[in-house]
Amino acid sequence: QTLILGHDPAGLRAAADLLAQGEPVAIPTETVYGLAGDARNPRAVARIYQAKGRPSFNPLIVHLPDLAAAERIAVFDDAALALARAFWPGALTLVLPLRPGAGIASLVTAGLDTVAIRVPAHPAAQAVLRAFGGPLAAPSANPSGRISPTAAAHVADPESGLGGRIAAVLDAGACPVGVESTIVGWVEGRPALLRPGGVAAEAIEAVLGRPLARPQGNAEAPTAPGQLTSHYAPRASLRLNAEAARPGELLIGFGPVAGEMTLSETGDLTEAASRLFDLLHRADAEGRPIAVAPVPDQGLGAAINDRLRRAAAPR
Ligand code: TXA
Ligand code: MG
Repeated sequence: QTLILGHDPAGLRAAADLLAQGEPVAIPTETVYGLAGDARNPRAVARIYQAKGRPSFNPLIVHLPDLAAAERIAVFDDAALALARAFWPGALTLVLPLRPGAGIASLVTAGLDTVAIRVPAHPAAQAVLRAFGGPLAAPSANPSGRISPTAAAHVADPESGLGGRIAAVLDAGACPVGVESTIVGWVEGRPALLRPGGVAAEAIEAVLGRPLARPQGNAEAPTAPGQLTSHYAPRASLRLNAEAARPGELLIGFGPVAGEMTLSETGDLTEAASRLFDLLHRADAEGRPIAVAPVPDQGLGAAINDRLRRAAAPR
């Protein structure tokens, strides 16, 4: 049975106690719910992989309360510092050299000499980090390859989520951003977009003063994040760039394309990102083929289209 904890002092204390015992707990962040565990405790990290059914080559993001704590774990150059100062706390993850002796379990980085780190902005995530007092490894709190959770009910669902497989979820309502963080790493010395996400690539490029490299992912041997081609997959089939529903299809609209559900009636990409995974969860529960209206590829639209392409990929 998965306990639902409230975003209140008792709930935060219960979450911090479970984490201290090496038990993974699902917690809200501004992007999606994460399945958090003590990043220094190999058994706690192993339990995260086990609960998600996650392939062990896919490393986890370490969450920290602030930049000072992050600098104790990873080595920042000037560009990394500029990005951290511009976007933390927030929906940006940086893949940086792991500081030797930082005490992060090697299962977190899957044995790499780099570590993915993020300072989340959500007050509940901040409160858990401070109550627990250590680094938290947290992938999205969904079974590996399924739709990411943006509500505690998505996490606690025994069929499409982790209900019955984890001790507890801290419920602080819907995640305001709704898609995972943007991941930036350094490839041959150049900052590179490893995964589009909640911070628009254009905003990152404006801080860096130059374009991000966009390395091509290899779906067979993912060295970069989220490169498994089929990911975020609903059980039903998914058709992209749909202008109208075909017989039997459930159409998710956007802007001028009206559907049974809509990402955003007004064509607002921020609203669309915040609704994306909840609509996919709800559409999937209907058990009909799903079609989705075209979404422009700028700003947060790049992250939305990335997740939709993966959800539609053959599996
Ligand atoms: O918004 C988010 O990022 C959410 C919340 C919970 O923070 N977390 C999340 O984690 O999306 P996850 O595990 O679903 O995705 C993390 C991605 C993975 O695709 C992984 O391959 C990549 O980060 N990653 C982690 N460490 C890495 C590293 N050292 N080098 C390259 N990629 C890394
Ligand atoms: Mg994920």
